Amino acid sequence: MSVYQATASAPVNIACIKYWGKRDTKLILPTNSSLSVTLHQDHLRSTTTSRADPSFESDRLWLNGKEEDIKAGGRMATCIAEMKRLRKEEVEDKQPNEPKLSSYHVHIASFNNFPTAAGLASSASGFAALVSSLAQLYKLPVSPSTLSLIARQGSGSACRSLYGGFVAWEQGTRADGLDSLAVEVAPQSHWPEMHALICVVSDDKKGTSSTSGMQRTVETSTLLQHRIAHVVPKRMAAISAAIKARDFDAFAQITMADSNQFHAVALDTEPPIFYMNDVSRAIIALIVEYNRVSVEKGHGRKAAYTYDAGPNAVIYTLKENVKEIIELIVRYFPQAVGSFKDVFGLFGGVDVAQTGG
Ligand code: ADP
Ligand code: DP6
Ligand code: CO
Repeated sequence: MSVYQATASAPVNIACIKYWGKRDTKLILPTNSSLSVTLHQDHLRSTTTSRADPSFESDRLWLNGKEEDIKAGGRMATCIAEMKRLRKEEVEDKQPNEPKLSSYHVHIASFNNFPTAAGLASSASGFAALVSSLAQLYKLPVSPSTLSLIARQGSGSACRSLYGGFVAWEQGTRADGLDSLAVEVAPQSHWPEMHALICVVSDDKKGTSSTSGMQRTVETSTLLQHRIAHVVPKRMAAISAAIKARDFDAFAQITMADSNQFHAVALDTEPPIFYMNDVSRAIIALIVEYNRVSVEKGHGRKAAYTYDAGPNAVIYTLKENVKEIIELIVRYFPQAVGSFKDVFGLFGGVDVAQTGG
């Protein structure tokens, strides 16, 4: 008897231009385009195994070893249904000898090797790994861009984790969402000196999920409307140009400005949402001062902080500054030993500084 099983893993991505707001909550169509960097290292990944079997009585999911409900009509159910549909249309209807896996239920087990729901983009790597493992299981002859359309319906940010390097999620204009997908802006090899330092300030589960937080922002924030109409389009063009020109100073300026505006929009929500804490703000102050000194010396900005929906800092910098920045953070946060976990490089370089314990 055949065993139909496949395992895939996917990395997180951390946005420089933040996605925050949906114009369609069912299809997960965003109110603005966004742009991120995919963190290609082993430290922040989801690994997902899917198995199809005629004996299974329902679709089931285990996340980090604990069974989670697959809600009918929910995002997980939608992604699984879309993948089964592709299996049928792209494989079974065309090759009648292939087993009818689309009619079997699936059991799915996924593990994150980093904190789940703590603002480190677990929903992004999680749904990217899910669609990747099902695509393998079903032997689908489809492109990353098609998979990004499906991952998007699990979690918006997940569509960007189907590509490495610098990735945009074009918001699109169609009501069916077929033009709301991820596109590669530049491969990792275009700017291999780019690194990301992850400062785990807290691995607690966030109080307000990204999904409910952004929904509340859409319903109540007037600042969001300004951001969507007048800020993000210009920033998307400017940061794409900065990446293409490998202009770190411009990349850093835009990245920090957009993190700031995202958190301002969260604060402009009713009731307000606070994702950063005192340690997050102290890290901002440190990076601002570090850049001020560098700019004064005529070198331009050398580091860019950004925060997702949580207190944990991601600092983008070029490889030549990694050591200096780690030393700076460790010097100013000796009390954080034990709460800052790994600080490491993006794209391969293993700059693991154990600021944590
Ligand atoms: P984060 O900042 O970590 O992305 P979110 O609030 O956006 O937090 O999403 C967290 C949710 O994403 C989890 O509660 C879970 O439903 C889902 N999720 C996280 N990891 C996985 C995974 N590996 N596979 C499937 N779903 C996942
Ligand atoms: C702040 O993709 O997690 O990380 O689509 O509801 O699952 P859902 O939300 P999610 O939101 C991510 C928000 C962000 C910014 C970003 O990644 O662009
Ligand atoms: Co998320």
